[in-house]
Amino acid sequence: KPLVFSGVQPTGNLHLGNYLGAIKKFVALQDTSDCIYCVVDLHSLTAQLVHEDLKDQTRAITAAFLASGIDPKKHIVFNQSRVMQHAELAWIFNCVARIGWMNRMTQFKDKAGKDRENASLGLLAYPSLMAADILVYRATHVPVGDDQKQHLELTRDIAQKFNNDFSDRIAGLGVGVEMKVGEETVNGFFPLTEPIIGGPAARIMSLRDGSKKMSKSDPSDLSRINLTDDADSISKKIRKAKTDPEALPGELDGLAGRPEAENLVGIYAGLAEISKEAVLKEFGGQQFSVFKPALADLAVEKLAPIAGEMRRISDDRAYVDAVLSDGGERAGLLAEATMKTVRDIIGLLQG
Ligand code: TYM
Repeated sequence: KPLVFSGVQPTGNLHLGNYLGAIKKFVALQDTSDCIYCVVDLHSLTAQLVHEDLKDQTRAITAAFLASGIDPKKHIVFNQSRVMQHAELAWIFNCVARIGWMNRMTQFKDKAGKDRENASLGLLAYPSLMAADILVYRATHVPVGDDQKQHLELTRDIAQKFNNDFSDRIAGLGVGVEMKVGEETVNGFFPLTEPIIGGPAARIMSLRDGSKKMSKSDPSDLSRINLTDDADSISKKIRKAKTDPEALPGELDGLAGRPEAENLVGIYAGLAEISKEAVLKEFGGQQFSVFKPALADLAVEKLAPIAGEMRRISDDRAYVDAVLSDGGERAGLLAEATMKTVRDIIGLLQG
């Protein structure tokens, strides 16, 4: 069975991009895979050390996971800081990865801005902790939105360098598995994890600007649909979403150069679980005055029950905390099993 891992940061409201690009996939993968879903609280320290309500933000993301249909009994839901092996493996990966690899990350460049010297060291090392999250479970698949693609390529680079640098030890201890790297078959300890990205909603854009991705940090609340928005705000935001004056095209080609139109079609497709082509088959030739109300109805139909369930679950704080604590214990056992072997491979003196 594939082993799936993914994480979401506990910063700000979850929005439709997080839901369609990530959480909806988390839910779907439960039938075919063993899944570990993590609220990555340590990652949220990289941009801002002091959070007023980190505990409640962590609970809110957990409630969103549960409200969307993630089953914490069959799978594992926990917050990262409970399992210290993530930080331990991240340290080792800091010594595997090269500074140049981190400097090339577009997310680091964006988030650090002009004053790079003054960014936290944690922000630079962010992808190393992310690789540790995934590889401490030796996860084979990671569902994420398109913006995480580069981080997952780096995760593979780290796994490959570790496997390569320690190939003799891994073979000597007999802890490797056969894997294909290009044409070659090698014996490695860490798998080369596959991203699960694709689909019509891998990159949801701002409702106000089709060239920017929908994001928690956009100052305009009209730019995003939050998972906690009520029906009225959802409808209002879709009504006010930027578009162009043309009707919708009948074919995908007709969306070229029309990022706002393409985005709304992608959102419809993601919510309805159909392709963009199928959306255009239904709405091609129609004006936005027809398409937008249909999209608003669909969004309300799909999102309102989740918002309601999130509120209900959030009210039961003891339940949410129990889920995280139980998940943390189970995750901790898996992570420690990996780390025992990693310490052996490296040759750290233990026991
Ligand atoms: P985060 O918390 O920023 O976002 C959570 C997930 O939502 C996806 N996403 C989007 N998808 C489509 N359109 C958008 N506009 C959009 N915005 C966000 C993200 O791609 C992500 O899948 N680094 C990660 C958290 C992380 C992680 C991990 C993920 C830490 N360790 C290990 C996977 C595996 C992040 O900041 O996601």
